Amino acid sequence: MLEIFQKAKKGKYAIGAFNISNLEQLKAIISAAKNLKSPVIVSTSQGERKFIGKKKIKALIDVYRRETNLPIILHLDHGKSFEVIQKAVEAGYDSVHFDGSELDFEENVKQTKKIVELAESNGIKNIEGELGYLRGKSSLQEKVEIKSEDLTDPRKALEFVEKTGINMLAIAIGNIHGVFKSGQNPSLFLDRLAEINELISDKAGLVLHGGSGTPEKDIRKSLEFGIVKVNVNTELRIAYTETLKKVLQESQEVAPYKIMPPVIKAVQKVVEEKIRLFGSDNKI
Ligand code: G3H
Ligand code: ZN
Repeated sequence: MLEIFQKAKKGKYAIGAFNISNLEQLKAIISAAKNLKSPVIVSTSQGERKFIGKKKIKALIDVYRRETNLPIILHLDHGKSFEVIQKAVEAGYDSVHFDGSELDFEENVKQTKKIVELAESNGIKNIEGELGYLRGKSSLQEKVEIKSEDLTDPRKALEFVEKTGINMLAIAIGNIHGVFKSGQNPSLFLDRLAEINELISDKAGLVLHGGSGTPEKDIRKSLEFGIVKVNVNTELRIAYTETLKKVLQESQEVAPYKIMPPVIKAVQKVVEEKIRLFGSDNKI
């Protein structure tokens, strides 16, 4: 496991993993991390990575690391195949997430294990697997019903971690991707989280996907039960698009470098709120 997660585990806080697909979002995240002296994870999903380009994002991250001296982790989010993970590894990503949660248990174990071998042989210390069914997408969502069979089974989680050798596990505990149109997302099943943590806390760090819209008190509580990484995407997308729409409606400006600063500020504000909520501020 990367040192930043070992420290987070000890200190009972989490590192935010923020998704991006362009330079403005990246600027916002780096400014927030710099302001609050926080380690940070920059994530790209398959689609986001394709849009920005894996070599370009790696080069940008290297520039920001040199400029800021911040611990910035470049992470592949929800990689769904060996080939996608392989390309990220070759491009120099620091951390990878293989999402085999749609596969049956044995197949998920088999494929995740292959990813662990690939990543480890390339010196990657952070390898995230996923078990449980996470509903929704990183956008505004109609209400979705969470079924008890969606949730991660603690015994299976232990077996999964032991058989695959991953050191980070994404779990389903009532979290969803996206934000409900009608208001706040459902509460987390914190008892389930505690049971999972009890069994695997000495073997892997736990990852909470769907960090947007989740009740803040639940996120705070989850930090006591082994959550060391929280993924956030939708709230950043909303801040970006809502602000951009407003700026364009209110002015005749055509120069992108004059249009984008308020958009960056709005995204930065959300990232700063999340960093404070996760407790990773002043940790470097
Ligand atoms: O992997 C990405 C995250 O789980 C994002 O979830 O869009 O609900 O914040 P979110
Ligand atoms: Zn996710």
